[in-house]
Amino acid sequence: MRAFEGPLDHIDQWDDHVRSRYQEGREESQFRDYTQAPQGVKDFYLLNHRHQTHGFAKAKRDEYARLTHGEKGIWEMMEFLNTLVDDSDPDTDLSQIEHNLQTAEAIRRDGHPRWFQLTGLIHDLGKVLCTYGEPQWAVVGDTFPTGCRWSEKIVYHEYFAWNPDASIPEYQTENGVYEPYCGLDSVVMSFGHDEYLYHVVKPYLPAEALAMIRYHSCYPIHKEGGYTHLMTERDHELMGWVRKFNPYDLYSKGHTKPDEKALRPYYEDLIAEFFPAKLRW
Ligand SMILES: [Fe+2]
Ligand SMILES: [Fe+2]
Repeated sequence: MRAFEGPLDHIDQWDDHVRSRYQEGREESQFRDYTQAPQGVKDFYLLNHRHQTHGFAKAKRDEYARLTHGEKGIWEMMEFLNTLVDDSDPDTDLSQIEHNLQTAEAIRRDGHPRWFQLTGLIHDLGKVLCTYGEPQWAVVGDTFPTGCRWSEKIVYHEYFAWNPDASIPEYQTENGVYEPYCGLDSVVMSFGHDEYLYHVVKPYLPAEALAMIRYHSCYPIHKEGGYTHLMTERDHELMGWVRKFNPYDLYSKGHTKPDEKALRPYYEDLIAEFFPAKLRW
């Protein structure tokens, strides 16, 4: 996808970085070694950690939850996003639609329910935020709770020194502005494609699917096990589903190219089972 505004060569460079961080077979200590990351990725995280304040995340969440960006069908949005892709991703020839289809197909092959397959298909459509003029750091990146102390499990934790929230004492306690065990639904996550798509599809999908969509980039929680002091029993259950989803997102990339034309009727049916012909974005 085109660079848009920011230091990444293309927006999927962040996904590639996450994939290499959690490469199967890597030692725990190697996860923490980010020195090999390209400068663009480091610069990206610096901007992300610096600008994703509690106030920013809340304001963007509220702005985009109003869904004022027109109406489009799901497949139509997939095609729209696809037109934004260029060939600057050196690791893969896959278009956005192909990543979507590959994720969904891997889920389908493993015999998971139809709503799970659909979630794989649509999980990244929130990246359309780029086309609304949002900078890279407000579209992709590992997400994390705002308004409370940043977990040391967040990548490039040291960059939070530049975040203005660092000097707000109320935000620097363990629970910050939240009650202990308040539930993730009341926590304001750093803003990005996860949170946006959640608001778009909220009326149509089961809670497990919504959790996968809303928290799939929240590596500090679903991969690193942080922030249990803000979570309910139900959140832990739902995180189990996010963890089930994660390998399909990370590791389905790069295998055989899906045949878009042949697969389209199956997925159009699946989309129609859950969504109206057009939905508000
Ligand atoms: Fe994503
Ligand atoms: Fe993805």
